[in-house]
Amino acid sequence: MRHLMSPLDFTVEELDKLLNLANDIEKNPEKYAHACDGKKIATLFYEPSTRTRLSFEAAMLNLGGSVLGFSSADSSSAAKGESVADTIRIVSCYADICAMRHPKEGAPLVASLKSSIPVINAGDGGHQHPTQTLTDLLTIRSLKGRLDNLTIGLCGDLKFGRTVHSLIHALVRYPNVRFVLISPEELRIPDYIREDVLKRNNQDFREVVRLEDALPELDLLYMTRVQKERFFNEEDYVRMKDFYILDKAKMKLAGPDMLVLHPLPRVNEISVEVDDDPRAVYFKQVQYGVYVRMALILTLLEVEVC
Ligand code: CP
Repeated sequence: MRHLMSPLDFTVEELDKLLNLANDIEKNPEKYAHACDGKKIATLFYEPSTRTRLSFEAAMLNLGGSVLGFSSADSSSAAKGESVADTIRIVSCYADICAMRHPKEGAPLVASLKSSIPVINAGDGGHQHPTQTLTDLLTIRSLKGRLDNLTIGLCGDLKFGRTVHSLIHALVRYPNVRFVLISPEELRIPDYIREDVLKRNNQDFREVVRLEDALPELDLLYMTRVQKERFFNEEDYVRMKDFYILDKAKMKLAGPDMLVLHPLPRVNEISVEVDDDPRAVYFKQVQYGVYVRMALILTLLEVEVC
């Protein structure tokens, strides 16, 4: 039985296979419509979510399966003090696979150690968000045609943004990927990513503050919101929240093929006037998230579709 805690749980070859499966699902959805008949996914969300929880549920429903779960700690027995370890033992009796989001780093890992069903990390604190990374990789590969030879700007809250941490982990395994890390001083990438992931892999990267300086050289801009829920005080959040706003004027500095991705939700960091720009692909990215989660469910449940 396999779990998914980090994008590195899959080799590059396994990731290729998963993304190929997602592309086949996109082209031939009817072929997979009964692949999970009789199977159930439990979505255990101790933190708010729109995309991740609903896309897991849509993915399982598209495969013919069913869904159960909770969408906040308050509506589960966590409010009475039940541990994650006990909860997963219970849920293992009800479902075949589970996706868990939790504000504490490592909580899905703790669950996986006690689980008798595959556990998927659907975001743990400021740590990792591997299924967002699968979504991002599928979006990039489908729209750019490759995952190598790319100059990627990662912009915004690089300190708390778990989607950025997971994406860097995944992309350092592809040749000739350059990162431009665009953030205010206070929201720079954590040391453990800089030292243990980027420097240890001899990764080509630089850190800048001004988005305008980076835009002309990018193949891809990955915008992120400032993570309000991870700040210790409101004052710091308010000071940081509008540090970057991508608007039409800034998009003129970018090349004609530069794609704009965002894991969403968006707050103010991308002006709505950018939404109609053909380079803005963050809503397409959401659709890729369903295909890749369908592929992930099939893979972890070891369901083969001929
Ligand atoms: N991208 C993402 O994780 O969105 P949600 O928080 O809405 O799930």
